[in-house]
Amino acid sequence: MTGSSSRSMEPTATRPGAATARAHADGAAAAALGTAVGADAEAAAAASPTPGNAREAVDPRSGASAAAPRPTETPAVRPGSGAMFDRIARRYDLLNRVLSLGLDRRWRRLTVAALELRSGRRVLDLATGTGDLALAMLRGCAGASVVGLDPSPAMLAIARDKASRRGVRVETTETATETGPEAGGLALGVGEAEHLPFADRVFDAVAIAFGLRNVPNRERALREMARVTRPGGRIAVLELGEPRGPLLGRVARLHIHVIVPRLGALLSGAREYRYLEKSIAAFPPPDEVARMMERSGIEPLEARPLTFGVCHLFVGRVRPQGAAC
Ligand SMILES: C[S@@+](CC[C@H](N)C(=O)[O-])C[C@H]1O[C@@H](n2cnc3c(N)ncnc32)[C@H](O)[C@@H]1O
Repeated sequence: MTGSSSRSMEPTATRPGAATARAHADGAAAAALGTAVGADAEAAAAASPTPGNAREAVDPRSGASAAAPRPTETPAVRPGSGAMFDRIARRYDLLNRVLSLGLDRRWRRLTVAALELRSGRRVLDLATGTGDLALAMLRGCAGASVVGLDPSPAMLAIARDKASRRGVRVETTETATETGPEAGGLALGVGEAEHLPFADRVFDAVAIAFGLRNVPNRERALREMARVTRPGGRIAVLELGEPRGPLLGRVARLHIHVIVPRLGALLSGAREYRYLEKSIAAFPPPDEVARMMERSGIEPLEARPLTFGVCHLFVGRVRPQGAAC
């Protein structure tokens, strides 16, 4: 796959993705609670619905642990992982709309515009989730063909239904032809941004919306995005961040730190939305994101603050091969 000069769209390594899907289905793909660090560990604890189950039974005489896991145990999940999104998939769209005050749609439209799509272009939407960016791409350019990848089968199931309801032809990345779905079509598949199951330079543009924050190895994901995009192709990263402005920034920070976790918990009935606040605060500032893009072979063109810096749209262009800094 990596380093291949073939232009085949056929996933060359969809099997790891498919394996991830199966693992998620088993509940086995969830990372152990102990692997989360710092704020993430706290978020993982918050995300674990049954923390009491993690306690070991200890023999009172020997002190030895009789710790065979109980069959009812729910494995802890890595905050931000596909397994975490599996849990909140059904509520995700509503929460997105409410927590972003409906602004998420506008931000996605701007992302699509930044990709400069044309009819016949092949586009990859990473961390596609429930497919809102992928569908916005098709609305923005009806002749494009879009591939959406995400590690959460539950989020993808919602994307599939939504696309079908809107009359979009949907297939899987496994069944898509060599050149991807036909114009106006969408192919969906399970996969992670750090290990893209595609040959080099098969896409004209790649985007990721509200996803890079969740990727453990962001630089690797950016390198993969550069690898699968033709030289000169556009890369767009839409991501939430900590607003830094004095006055309106303070209001936005209040929204992120006070309103989002409370409203998220209230509406979702889940505590996963604490993770949102923490991951936003932990996301690197715009100049660091631009440097990461640069190191990954992407020439940064723009880091555009949206809505008082609540969100940033990073746009770049893939350098010719070998031109990475
Ligand atoms: C906040 S949602 C964003 C969904 C969608 N892009 C949107 O605009 O609404 C984040 C998505 O990132 C996905 N994700 C988590 N880890 C990932 C990884 N390593 N690679 C790609 N996607 C990942 C999750 O499964 C989830 O669907």
